[in-house]
Amino acid sequence: MVVVFEATHEQLTAKYPAEVNERYPKGRKPWISSIEQYKTMYDQSINDPDTFWKERADELVEFFSPYHTVSSGTIDKGDIRWFDGGKINVSYNCVDRWAKKTPDAVAIIFEADEPGQAKYITYKELLDMVSKAAGTLRSFGLKKGDTVAIYMPMVPEAAVSMLACSRLGLVHNVVFAGFSANSLAERVNDSKATVVITADQGLRGGKVIQTKAIVDEALKSCPGVKNVLVFKRTGAQVNFQEGRDVWWDDALNQQTEFVEPVHVESEDPLFILYTSGSTGKPKGLVHTTAGYLLGAAMTSRYTFDLAQGDVFCCSADVGWITGHTYGVYGPLSLGVTTVIFESLPSYPDASRFWQTVDTHKITQFYTAPTAIRALRRLGDQFVTSNDLSTLRVIGSVGEPINPEAWCWYRTVVGKDSVSVVDTYWQTENGSHLLTPMPFATTTKPGSATFPMFGIVPAILDANSGEELTSTTAKGVLCIKRPWPSIARTILGDHQRYLATYMHAYKGYYFTGDGVLRDEEGYYWIGGRVDDVINVSGHRMSTAEIESAIIENEAVAESAVVGVSDDITGQTICAFVLLQSGLKESDEIKKSIIATVRAEIGPIATPKYLIILDDLPKTRSGKIIRRVLRKVAAGEEDQLGDLSTMSDPSILAGIVSKVHSAF
Ligand code: PRX
Repeated sequence: MVVVFEATHEQLTAKYPAEVNERYPKGRKPWISSIEQYKTMYDQSINDPDTFWKERADELVEFFSPYHTVSSGTIDKGDIRWFDGGKINVSYNCVDRWAKKTPDAVAIIFEADEPGQAKYITYKELLDMVSKAAGTLRSFGLKKGDTVAIYMPMVPEAAVSMLACSRLGLVHNVVFAGFSANSLAERVNDSKATVVITADQGLRGGKVIQTKAIVDEALKSCPGVKNVLVFKRTGAQVNFQEGRDVWWDDALNQQTEFVEPVHVESEDPLFILYTSGSTGKPKGLVHTTAGYLLGAAMTSRYTFDLAQGDVFCCSADVGWITGHTYGVYGPLSLGVTTVIFESLPSYPDASRFWQTVDTHKITQFYTAPTAIRALRRLGDQFVTSNDLSTLRVIGSVGEPINPEAWCWYRTVVGKDSVSVVDTYWQTENGSHLLTPMPFATTTKPGSATFPMFGIVPAILDANSGEELTSTTAKGVLCIKRPWPSIARTILGDHQRYLATYMHAYKGYYFTGDGVLRDEEGYYWIGGRVDDVINVSGHRMSTAEIESAIIENEAVAESAVVGVSDDITGQTICAFVLLQSGLKESDEIKKSIIATVRAEIGPIATPKYLIILDDLPKTRSGKIIRRVLRKVAAGEEDQLGDLSTMSDPSILAGIVSKVHSAF
């Protein structure tokens, strides 16, 4: 297992003291205003966790009836529970509370695909929408514990749908609307969803996406789906199946009765979200109610210094965990304004993010390194033509951020006077694991710095599994104790949950990432140590792409590896062996690409598709991916031990094919 660090020594040792951020919030102190305060709170969260979490729960969330036990269960047993005995409702916490306290405060700003078409939804209006959407779902006969799939563009109605599910104790399963009909069908069936919420079409960067048509295609193989609720985004003529399909506006307008939030148990499931693991089938991670909500609220408050009056923009799609926790649940649970951004950072030009910041006076902005790198390449003028002085905190998430991109983000976007928070976490975690505290942590470009409250990181030697306790250490990142928002299981496969996360290194939660801890205790994430690749912050398994490629009848075998890329972090490189008798041609390549797009979706399109005559294999016939990874990285002089390879003479041919493809 290799952990790669690209930064130079100077970059690794550069420091940005917390004091550079003079953009204090108006009328109050930052939530955490010194590193001493962070350390005191962190120590309490570790030494007296029950008191720490009780205090946070008292401050941040409202239970209908009190819990009797703060936490129970262990990582080893995989039986983690938080706030047992409590009754709670997420939509009540995110909507009703604020609709009472600050009804006219803006809950959601919708920044539509075309500039100048923003819409504003107050907390009072949001409550009305959520209640009506919940009434509609109830009219379909759905009951607490049933699952609803959501396949929506980035519109406020996606958030309303999630909140409406949580209001009734329904479990939502949001599927990223860039996934293909096949992927959608697989996720609908695996989660046993009986209702799908979608839109007629989606709009992104001026392009129309045929959202409803994809749903129709998927539902041909989803016999369990009884109703489809269709939001009109564009009003285009789309197929409409009487009896099954219902228009969003018609249905919501018929709801006259206020729908009270259902009192659910703390550990009742809130949502399922599928993510890729190192084996073929996506995993449906199950997040439960109270712990997840508290994790979202607490980390949103401290990582971004969020409070009422702030305008927070998380550019992630609601189909990913970042969109769930920091686009919807975190900011709304704090009563702040969240911006739902429908467009692309480059549409109509590369100043779109920054114009959006100025238009809505955004105070905290959160995006991915791939966007930062792409915008940096297009030139500073798109940024500097905007004021951006409302920003206090700018965040990065989803993949390692290289120090160059980090420095550009801070200097050009943040005008050298804001805090950059590089936040490390995963779908499985529900909320941040490692992050600086703005106004408190001295940052180093490229490091996610220190653990969030309640998180006890451990670095293990990948081979021996031994914990490396010295300050300076390099190995795999694990977490030693449960925290409130950790996923509780993989839907229908608790054994896989235990095997993947809890027993890979017994007693530790295993992240799958390589990490370095420097002499000052800062954590530096190096990237995945398994067969997961990260393209523009989208996590995919090589096995999943390989099984899609194999679906093409021209293909005999395939091996997929990740190749590093200046903009997207990694890209997909697929090696393919054709069925005997077939010759390489542009048609065959196009057809293989089309198969991948149909099986998974455009995000899984290989950038490089290399047809080989032979794949490197062991004598027992296993593909040696390490060799392909090295050749694709241009490191054919560092192939290591080839003694297990059955026919090393094929290497020269592979190297020359790769050279001509790149
Ligand atoms: O490899 C790590 C990378 O993204 C993976 C998690 O992906 P996903 O579950 O899709 O969640 C993405 C957003 C939370 C991790 O295993 N990753 C995420 N954030 C960072 C990161 N790598 C380095 N630095 C980060 N800040």
